[in-house]
Amino acid sequence: MRFDTGSRVTRDGIRIYSRDDFAGMHRAGRLAAQILDEVAAHVGVGQTTGALDAFIRKRVEEEGAVSATIGYKGYQHASCISLNHVVCHGIPGAKVPKGKNDRGARRHDELIEGDILNIDVTVVVDGWYGDTSRMYTVGPVKPFADRLIQVTHDALMKGIEAVRPGNTFGDIGHAIQSFVEAQRMSVVRDFCGHGLGRVFHAPPNVLHYGRPGTGAVLEEGMFFTIEPMVNLGRPETRVLSDEWTAITRDKSLSAQFEHSVGVTADGVEIFTLSPAGRFHPTTA
Ligand code: MF3
Ligand code: CO
Ligand code: CO
Repeated sequence: MRFDTGSRVTRDGIRIYSRDDFAGMHRAGRLAAQILDEVAAHVGVGQTTGALDAFIRKRVEEEGAVSATIGYKGYQHASCISLNHVVCHGIPGAKVPKGKNDRGARRHDELIEGDILNIDVTVVVDGWYGDTSRMYTVGPVKPFADRLIQVTHDALMKGIEAVRPGNTFGDIGHAIQSFVEAQRMSVVRDFCGHGLGRVFHAPPNVLHYGRPGTGAVLEEGMFFTIEPMVNLGRPETRVLSDEWTAITRDKSLSAQFEHSVGVTADGVEIFTLSPAGRFHPTTA
């Protein structure tokens, strides 16, 4: 018989971690966020998503960490890079599917002015997973693209504000959905946040929509991500034949932000805060 300090699983299958475990999550989360800070300097016109991923892979290795995505269900990259109408799981180095906001031609995976992109990195540090993503812009972007990014960022933060013991996962989803829909944008239903800790994906599914008071009750020691995807148009998505790239069915622009968080006795700690304070792209 082995006693794991405070480690147990709720009736909903959600692991409860101990106070000591928060430190491990902070180390992993901080590294993932730091790498996203660093990659900002490399985002620009003419840069390729393949080169951005190569930089991320190199930085993960230099830090003695492990990429959680390389080898995950056959995925072969250290990041997901999702451009414009790609909702999530965009493959670095892959030819970017043409969207309705692409005026001119783009060479393969090259960034062009006006692009918006999400970069999603998950690292493993001493067995702990840090999972975060944020938006970047290439040169000046259209006002509606800026607004989408702002609303998506603020939606994540509204979700995080609903994290405290006694609230439910439905409260988180409702906070996000009601905010987004009040801005006449839509919340993606086909992908969700997830529990994590010493594993990449664990219960619960963290939905970014929902009704107050529904779903599992939050308890101190739960670790999970919140990672809303918001579309300017309709919420439906479609996965391309590469079996990863998810796009909006109506080809409207999509944005996403992701934090890994832990429930504390009286609220929440964010594990993936930007060390440089650059989580939001226009807040330098
Ligand atoms: N980081 C993504 C998430 O937020 C998962 C990416 S899995 C991959 O859950 F295989 F596509 F990398
Ligand atoms: Co995630
Ligand atoms: Co992620």
